[in-house]
Amino acid sequence: MIPINRPWLNDEEKKEMLMVLDEGILTSPALEGGKRVQEFESLLRRYLSIKHVIAVNSGTSALIAALLALGLKEGDEVLLPSFTFVASANSVVAAGGTPVFVDINNADYTIDIKDLAKKITKRTRAIMPVHLYGHPADLDEIAELANSNSLEIIEDACQSLGSVYRKRQTGTIGSMGCFSMYASKVLTSGEGGAIATDDDLLADQLRMIRNHGMVEGYDTRVFGLNLRLPEICAAIAMGQMKKLDEMLEKRRNNAKLLTDLLSHSDGDGLTTPTEPDDGHKKFNWYLYTVALDSRQTEDKINTPDLPGHPGYRDLMKDEMVNSAKIGVAVYYDPPVHLTPYYRELVQSRLPNQSREMPNNLKTTEWASRHVLSLPVHPLLSAEDIEYIANSFKSAKQNLKK
Ligand SMILES: Cc1ncc(COP(=O)(O)O)c(C=O)c1O
Repeated sequence: MIPINRPWLNDEEKKEMLMVLDEGILTSPALEGGKRVQEFESLLRRYLSIKHVIAVNSGTSALIAALLALGLKEGDEVLLPSFTFVASANSVVAAGGTPVFVDINNADYTIDIKDLAKKITKRTRAIMPVHLYGHPADLDEIAELANSNSLEIIEDACQSLGSVYRKRQTGTIGSMGCFSMYASKVLTSGEGGAIATDDDLLADQLRMIRNHGMVEGYDTRVFGLNLRLPEICAAIAMGQMKKLDEMLEKRRNNAKLLTDLLSHSDGDGLTTPTEPDDGHKKFNWYLYTVALDSRQTEDKINTPDLPGHPGYRDLMKDEMVNSAKIGVAVYYDPPVHLTPYYRELVQSRLPNQSREMPNNLKTTEWASRHVLSLPVHPLLSAEDIEYIANSFKSAKQNLKK
């Protein structure tokens, strides 16, 4: 089976990990973190060209810490897409806020600016754009709305380490940017995360928050939790940092080859991911996600073996997984607002939004039915990519029979 993502681990990580074991210091309760946590933070700080990086034990912890640092009060709303991993919304709830879901655009599946503008109210405190699949959201337009309404921007950059927006790294443009180092991500420490910020005061808060609000001992000064990154994880992340550029380059080459090969297929209803022509968004190619629909046809197609029918994507997925043994995957179906927990939360906290729900998140619901992600991770060879493209074309043909 070719998995959708697989970490590239070798001697770099092993060497650093073994040194941690030899030294026998597995974590540190110090405010500034352990030795390797600090070394990793400085590597990532340099890579991102940012003043502060605070490493934590997951992307979820990074988001929770960032939202806690804002000091959300009951009733404060955070605007974010529903087309994301549920951790984005869960972190808002965990930090005491109310998530308000915004639709996405169908060009790159990131937050839709028009819908975002409509959903700002006097209760809105922050905007959380998600750079889904490694596609940078429209940060200039988001910043304009945030500035004119005195809102904070917390970037969910959990999928976008290495993606660039107008020559700046994603995760460094809002007041805080949150990264994940989960096992599938472009850079991994197994589990792990980090927050980037240029703000000295926020950085001080974040360091306290990751350590139960303590500074010099048992002197809890703000609310915090144990969000510390273990030294072994920091050691793996350090090894990964050394080859981050190489890993991203391999993803880019694989994605380009896959696009070239898929563009020779019969094409009907297939949208491949593309960076804008003017180069203002550069993807890290964390997920190579196609849409299996021409978007005009959905209502007119009656059988699931044709692109456009809501069942077609799932049949293609089954063909690819079961026949070709390629771990294609759907990110995300259902979207967050249609999960049982969030359906209820939206109804209880946001009755106005739920009343409008049927037409509210149209592109989100369309995308959740039609997207499919194909592997482009750095351990794949050109032959693997050819196999993936050929299998994709055969799957389409098989469904036509
Ligand atoms: C968009 C998004 N947000 C948040 C997270 C949470 O990160 P983690 O799994 O490291 O907690 C993830 C990662 O899976 C993600 O993809």
